[in-house]
Amino acid sequence: IKKIGVLTSGGDAPGMNAAIRAAVRTGFYYNLEMYGIYRGYEGMIQNDIKKLDSKNITHVLERGGTFLKSARSEEFRTPGGRKKAYDNLKSHGIDALVVIGGDGSLTGAHLFFQEHGIPSIGLPGTIDNDLSGTDSTIGFDTACNTAIDAIDKIRDTATSHDRLFFVEVMGRDAGFIAINAGIGSAAAAILIPENRTPIENLVEKLKSRSKAMKSSNIVIVAEGGKSGSAQEIAEKVKKNLPNYDIKVTILGHLQRGGAPSSFDRLLASKLGVAAVEGLMQGKYDVMAGMINNKVVFTPIVKAIVDDKTVDEEDLRVANILST
Ligand code: F6P
Repeated sequence: IKKIGVLTSGGDAPGMNAAIRAAVRTGFYYNLEMYGIYRGYEGMIQNDIKKLDSKNITHVLERGGTFLKSARSEEFRTPGGRKKAYDNLKSHGIDALVVIGGDGSLTGAHLFFQEHGIPSIGLPGTIDNDLSGTDSTIGFDTACNTAIDAIDKIRDTATSHDRLFFVEVMGRDAGFIAINAGIGSAAAAILIPENRTPIENLVEKLKSRSKAMKSSNIVIVAEGGKSGSAQEIAEKVKKNLPNYDIKVTILGHLQRGGAPSSFDRLLASKLGVAAVEGLMQGKYDVMAGMINNKVVFTPIVKAIVDDKTVDEEDLRVANILST
């Protein structure tokens, strides 16, 4: 392997820049040529590919977002789009890829390897933490810290006004941010996509908490939950608790921004090194993750299957602490 392309794809995540930097610096360390593929697979199709030098990766580690930019490419889902992307890579002589992103991005890398034989290593870059083969994805820790910081502020005003807040956090089909931010902010209840919480149970819980003279209550709702959006749940609860002053806050994309935490910087840096060294050792079509503080390479097809579930112990702890 002589020339490696690096790209970020899908929803951005804090720590992506640190991962790009680590991969590129490692490439330079081993005298490889490193290329930035801008806007993910979309840029690969449109030949938005540039050779990187050390200036490109100066002062990026500490920045949120991704300087390579990111996109969700519809065209790359088609064999025709992947063929265009392959031709562009070949025109630059790029013979391997480091793909930083979530399950959709890693699926793309897997298909690309199967169809065109381009070796790739994926790095788990998503705030959702919904990839197997790693304890934590790059960006998850920062997103949880951001959510908790925002919820602390909501708590201040909720307490001043004796209000009930429904706070919606990101996580698409996964409740990892919700459970983590919920435990970390003393939530009254946490609604996650993996479980359906009957509204009656939630109402009962909120009633008993108000009898216990809790002046504010915060319910965390993961987006994409089976019980509905935070707004829908708030409306249903309002019908049962008409005297309670209820507000809804959707944290949204602020959870994706900001400087990466020290945890995410370290994780991204270690995995960036592992990706390039892994490619040099002939490890293809795998994702580099961190389990028990050790780098582990998991076949991409295994990393993307939806079998990483919220820890039962976390659910138990959340339940005890909110009763
Ligand atoms: O996958 C990361 C994520 O932030 C999800 O939590 C969220 O559902 C989704 O991306 C939002 O995507 P977009 O920024 O494309 O609206």
